[in-house]
Amino acid sequence: MTQTEEKLEAQDTPQVPIDKIVSLCKRRGFVYPNSEIYGGVAGFYDFGPLGVELRNNIRRYWWWSMVQLHDNVVGIEGATITHPRVWEASGHVENFTDTLVDCKKCKRRFRVDHLPAENLASNSCPVCGGELTEPRKFNLLMETYLGVVEGDKMKTYLRGEACQNIYLDYDNVLKSSRMQIPFGICQIGKAYRNEVTPGNFLFRQREFEQWDLQFFVHPSEMDKWFDYWKEYRFNWYKGIVNHKDRLRFHEHGKDELAHYAKKAFDIEYQTILGWQEWEGIHWRQDWDLTRHSEYSGQDLAYTDPNTKERYVPWIVETSGGVDRTFLFLLLDAYEEETDPKGDTRVVLHLHPWLAPVKCAVFPLQKNKEELVNKSKEIHRMLQRYMVCQYDDVANIGRRYRRQDEIGTPYCVTIDFQTLDDQTVTVRNRDTMEQVRVPISELTMYLLERITWK
Ligand code: GAP
Repeated sequence: MTQTEEKLEAQDTPQVPIDKIVSLCKRRGFVYPNSEIYGGVAGFYDFGPLGVELRNNIRRYWWWSMVQLHDNVVGIEGATITHPRVWEASGHVENFTDTLVDCKKCKRRFRVDHLPAENLASNSCPVCGGELTEPRKFNLLMETYLGVVEGDKMKTYLRGEACQNIYLDYDNVLKSSRMQIPFGICQIGKAYRNEVTPGNFLFRQREFEQWDLQFFVHPSEMDKWFDYWKEYRFNWYKGIVNHKDRLRFHEHGKDELAHYAKKAFDIEYQTILGWQEWEGIHWRQDWDLTRHSEYSGQDLAYTDPNTKERYVPWIVETSGGVDRTFLFLLLDAYEEETDPKGDTRVVLHLHPWLAPVKCAVFPLQKNKEELVNKSKEIHRMLQRYMVCQYDDVANIGRRYRRQDEIGTPYCVTIDFQTLDDQTVTVRNRDTMEQVRVPISELTMYLLERITWK
C-alpha cells in the first residue's frame, strides 16, 4: 500500500512575494531570464519545459472558450510587423508615450503616472529625496527596418498592440467567412513595447503576448455587448483562480483612458504589488475602422444585408496578457502548507485544466521489476492523452512533493496490489486523498477531471 500522508494545513500566507515565484520558475523549468549567460536583458524572458506546457494550456483554454464556444466569433493570426502607416492611423506614433522624470541625484527614472502625489507636488525623488528633471515624453513603439540596402530601408515598428491586425483583416474576414454583425475576431499574439520601467518579472515586459477579442456591433447595440463581454471575461477569470475575492473591476477615469477608448474597465487582481490590471475591456467605438479607412483610402463601412443600412461598426475590445495570466495564476496557486510535525510542502493549486503536467506515474519500489514494468506500461497508456511523467527516484513522499510543487493534480502509484487486482492508487494533489481505480477505467477517470467543460 502507498504510505498515507499527514494532513497538511495551509499557512496564512495571503500574498506570495514575487521572488518565491521567480525562484520556483527557474528551479523547476518554468521561466528563465533571456540571454542569461550574457547577463540578461531587462524585460525579456524565455519559457522552459514546464512553462511552455502551462502557457499552451492557458492559451488553448482562452481560445476554446472565446472562439470554439461562440458561433459568432472566429480567429486569425497576424504578422507582428505591418505597414508603418498602420501605427500612424492607430494613433500610436503620436500618442503611445510614457512621461518620465529622472532623479538628478540618484539617477533613478520614474514614470510620472507612477509617482506618489506628494513627490509630484514637491518634485522630489521618492527614493532619495533628490530633485527631479522636467518631464519628458518617450514613445513606446519599437522601431525596426525593412530591406537590405542602406538609405533604402523602410522604417517600421514591431506591433505595439496585437489587435491592429484584426482591424486590418476585418474586411477580409467579412468577405471570406459568413460572419455578419454582430460578430467578433480573436487573436493571440506577441506585442512589443519599449517599456521604460520593465519589471516585476513577467508583469511588465518589453516582449509579451496578448489575447484580444474585437467584437463588431451596430452602434445601437454597443451597451448590450459591452456589458456581455465585460461580465463574460470577469467570470472567465473567476473560473480559474482560487482567490475569487482578489478580482475586481476598475473603471478608468478621464485621465487614464487610452487614446482609442471612450470608456474602459480593467479586470484587476490583487497581488503583493497591490491591485493590478489583468485585462482591459475597452469601448473603442468607431476609432479604429474610421482611422484605417481615412489613412488607407479603403472604405471599411458595413452594409447590413437585411436592412441595407450602411455604417461604420463600433468595437468592444477585451484585451489581456498571456504572460500576466501566467504570473497571476502562479501567485494565486502558490501555497506553503505545514503538517503537525512541522514538515512543509510547496504546492501549486493550479486548475487541473491548466496544470502543465496532468499526472505522474510511480512504481512503489524501484527495485521490483514487475512494478517498474507495469508502471511504464501505464505511463505509455496515459501519455497518449495527457502530459504524464514517470518517476521512480527517491521515496514516494518525495516524489509527491516534487509533483505538488509543479501543480500536478494526480499521482498514480503502482503497488503489489496492482499486480493482483489490476487497480492503482490515484492521489489527489489538493486533498491528498487516495482512491483505488481499476486500470481499465484510469484514462477516463483522469480525462474527466482534467478536460475543460
Ligand atoms: N489593445 C489594447 C491594449 O493593448 P493594454 O491595456 O495596453 O491594451 C492589454 O494591454 C493587456 O496586455 C494588459 O491588460 C496586460 O495584461 C497586457 N500587457 C500590457 N502591457 C504589458 C507588458 N508590458 N508586459 C506584460 N503584459 C502587458
